[in-house]
Amino acid sequence: MDPFESFKSAQKHAWVDFAPNEAHTTPCAARLVKSADVRPGRRVLDVACGTGVVSVTAARIGARVIGLDLTPELLERAKENARIAGVEIEWHEGDVEKLPFGDAAFDIVLSQYGHIFAPRPEVAIGEMLRVLKPGGTIAFSTWPPELFAGRVFALTASYLPPPPPGVAPPAQWGDPNIVRQRLGSAVKDIVFDRATMLIPALSPSHRRTAAEKSSAPMVRLVAALEGSDPAKLEQFRREYDALASEYFEDNLLRQDYLMTRATKI
Ligand SMILES: C[S@@+](CC[C@H](N)C(=O)[O-])C[C@H]1O[C@@H](n2cnc3c(N)ncnc32)[C@H](O)[C@@H]1O
Repeated sequence: MDPFESFKSAQKHAWVDFAPNEAHTTPCAARLVKSADVRPGRRVLDVACGTGVVSVTAARIGARVIGLDLTPELLERAKENARIAGVEIEWHEGDVEKLPFGDAAFDIVLSQYGHIFAPRPEVAIGEMLRVLKPGGTIAFSTWPPELFAGRVFALTASYLPPPPPGVAPPAQWGDPNIVRQRLGSAVKDIVFDRATMLIPALSPSHRRTAAEKSSAPMVRLVAALEGSDPAKLEQFRREYDALASEYFEDNLLRQDYLMTRATKI
């Protein structure tokens, strides 16, 4: 199999248990939807929608929303979220590197911590911009490499075999200079902002225990080391807890992130 396709197939399995994290991504979804100025009647695509927190938030405003994700288990939860909220959303199982939509089909394209996991950033952003109409808004939230989530990505990666050549680290999407380059001349009026996700936890180890069961990179790491090298897994756990302690106060883990918004030319 093509190395990028097998990478994505592994991702699909690793994300199945992400749903408990929707408690933390829900407030951030409202921030992203507000920043993109979602209004009634706008055609919105939520790329890598997971359990649909961004999609449902936009649909509750009256936008016409399509949510797309690689992982069918999360789309099941997204459907349930839409049902509970009483909104109609079209859901697609699919890949951001190969969007099943025509050119200029959307007024707004959003991604919350989603498209960053596609292996080839230039392919993902090319597709997101292709389906966006000229004058439309692209907006996404991403993790900077120098802050907590980005540092966890780097730590986790240092314990795993390297990905196939050509797979970009997700935290590159948290660097405004790289974001500017990747958006290139296809957009104007790029606006950056910073925001914070606060995750309640009784201790750094509580957060790690939850992330080991629900955050794809850590799920993969535990699966790789649990049987084969428990000592190395313990070392990872100590390193994670020390890192998390730097961002932990009042039983909250602070995860700051980057928000980007731009207009397609
Ligand atoms: C951190 S979760 C974010 C989910 C959701 N946007 C949220 O804010 O709660 C990352 C999501 O990216 C999806 N994903 C990873 N690679 C993808 C790809 N190539 N195409 C579409 N979705 C992908 C995963 O299935 C997962 O739902």
